[in-house]
Amino acid sequence: MVRREHRSVMIQEVVDNLLTNTSGLYIDATYGAGGHSTALLGCLGPKGRVIAFDCDQSIRFARTSDPRAAAGHANFRSLEWNLSCAEIYGADGIVADLGASATQLHDAQRGLSYLHPGPIDMRVDPTRSAPLSGRIMRTGLGTLHSSLRCHGFSGRTKAAASSILQIVRKARYTTTLDVATATCCLHTQGMHMAADAFRALRSMANSEPQCLRSLVRQAPAVLKPGGRLLILTFDSYGERMVRASIEHASSLVLMRTVAPTQREVASNPGARSSLLHVLRSTGNPRAVAPQYTRP
Ligand SMILES: C[S@@+](CC[C@H](N)C(=O)[O-])C[C@H]1O[C@@H](n2cnc3c(N)ncnc32)[C@H](O)[C@@H]1O
Repeated sequence: MVRREHRSVMIQEVVDNLLTNTSGLYIDATYGAGGHSTALLGCLGPKGRVIAFDCDQSIRFARTSDPRAAAGHANFRSLEWNLSCAEIYGADGIVADLGASATQLHDAQRGLSYLHPGPIDMRVDPTRSAPLSGRIMRTGLGTLHSSLRCHGFSGRTKAAASSILQIVRKARYTTTLDVATATCCLHTQGMHMAADAFRALRSMANSEPQCLRSLVRQAPAVLKPGGRLLILTFDSYGERMVRASIEHASSLVLMRTVAPTQREVASNPGARSSLLHVLRSTGNPRAVAPQYTRP
């Protein structure tokens, strides 16, 4: 299969909204193919620094002799702990580009693709926890049904849960393609349903809402007062996750949300539904949680 390279989204918008100090310290919590890290380094002065993380242990960070860059494998769920272990404090900005990269999504062996047969795994970090199939094996219909709903599946949740359970329990050698075919059959907009089911299953397999909530909770402790937290989402489920995560984040203010330009969408359809959420740390706990508005 052809390896699909990831194309970073809203690079200029990330730089424009994150960079407030060319000598500052910036954290890229989701390195992926390194597009945002590279762009940030390109705009920083000699004293600026970028520390990049990605939880996927198979990601190879770009080899660089640039003393301003450092990288390591870590889940942003433990960002504060990882930074304090390295005695890194007072960041000027953090960027988190949520979900999976195109390279991961199109690698059938990771089980994230609904177009190619692969194991029902779906972990972006295969060294942690268990493949999704194992978890589904131990799950009852009611739990899977409510879990799909919690992770934003918009289709016929009960029917989908029942088909997925049957497929996973039926035989050892079922693949992602069997799950895709079963979820496709549940709706006239078949492929759309399969994509939505896979997104929900990926969110389950990687505890996406829990990781994001954790990042948002830790951000004020990691950032300087006035420092920025940028979160890039790709669909309405991602937007809802951000909204729910910042609801009680009293030390963060939502400054703006930024959509991609038409030009970017025309050249990269993958950017179509993306949205950049720009938050600022007040440094002071406020009584009122930030108001969420869409552009
Ligand atoms: C959309 S890609 C990021 C692309 C990157 N910004 C770029 O410009 O190339 C998302 C990345 O986030 C990583 N990821 C997902 N959840 C994570 C988590 N909880 N902690 C750390 N990395 C995570 C994935 O492994 C993936 O490489």
